[in-house]
Amino acid sequence: MSEPPFQTIAWTSDGIAMLDQRKLPTQVLTHLCHEADCVIDAIKALVIRGAPAIGVAAAMGLALGARQFRESTQEGFLKRFEELCSRFAAARPTAVNLFWAIERMKTVAYSKAYPAVIKALESEALKIWKEDVRINHAIGDHGKALIPLKANILTHCNAGALATGGFGTALGIIYAAFKEGKDIHVYADETRPVLQGARLTAWELQQHRVPVTLITDNMAGMLMKEKKIDLVIVGADRIAKNGDAANKIGTYSLAVLAHHHGIPFYVAAPTSTFDREITCGEEIPIEFRSEKEVLYCGKKRIAPRDIRVFNPAFDVTPSTYITGIITEMGIIQNPDTEAIDKLFQP
Ligand code: MRU
Repeated sequence: MSEPPFQTIAWTSDGIAMLDQRKLPTQVLTHLCHEADCVIDAIKALVIRGAPAIGVAAAMGLALGARQFRESTQEGFLKRFEELCSRFAAARPTAVNLFWAIERMKTVAYSKAYPAVIKALESEALKIWKEDVRINHAIGDHGKALIPLKANILTHCNAGALATGGFGTALGIIYAAFKEGKDIHVYADETRPVLQGARLTAWELQQHRVPVTLITDNMAGMLMKEKKIDLVIVGADRIAKNGDAANKIGTYSLAVLAHHHGIPFYVAAPTSTFDREITCGEEIPIEFRSEKEVLYCGKKRIAPRDIRVFNPAFDVTPSTYITGIITEMGIIQNPDTEAIDKLFQP
């Protein structure tokens, strides 16, 4: 299997180039950012989305922003850098990779004198990006062993190359197994309200020539009952110390369904998605997004005027419903605080 003919994000001499995910699959367009504010807006507007990709974009955005500061003192530089970090941190609350990447960039900002630090920030951003691609390949290598020779796999949202620096987490595992010659077929949930499954996962799997069938979110139960799903693999935006995992709204329902039908339910995520500061899923901040996402399907309004809307972007799956968490460091079977602690032990 060859590399896909697209790049989610790139650091170029012109600025930060992002594949505009609002426009896929009907248009394949590049969104070019020349300044940090453009990157912040791109993260908010879902030009770029997916936990690891948000982290990479923020790191690059901070490096780009720092390059444009015109400060005369170290103090002045750090003050402006901190302000910029706070604005990136306010872009999206759930994906912890954003805060993780900001912390890495801050560590570099404080480690060197200004202006030499500008180059170091750029190197760190590129390192975060390249590391992410390497990590995704490692997740794929660990996870592919879990996929039977012939498998129907259900996935939700998009946890592929589009959601990361490249290759993908949940989809990376599918690509690694597919490359080995396994007979794989994927059911992609459309993932209302923003349709990351229909617009992004379906498109991305087609680019990789992986057989895929698109379903609406309410069809998974029937497929499971009819024994048409062998396993579920999804990504994650934040994983608590006890293994409770936040991911795209609708993931929890799939986990409960999979549990009921005795189907393995795996979460694939880099270790940067673990939030070791929080003990359980209830502490994960959930992003609520515009009611327009629910009121409209694309440009078409589908609901009456003056209707109340509820639109959480993520839900939390308790670790008891998770068969295993696949990371770059290995697979945590039956995740709980103890099993996760073991993986993180030096
Ligand atoms: O709102 P989004 O599109 O950023 O949500 C993305 C997801 O929920 C993904 O499944 C998650 O970030 C994992 S990406 C490898």
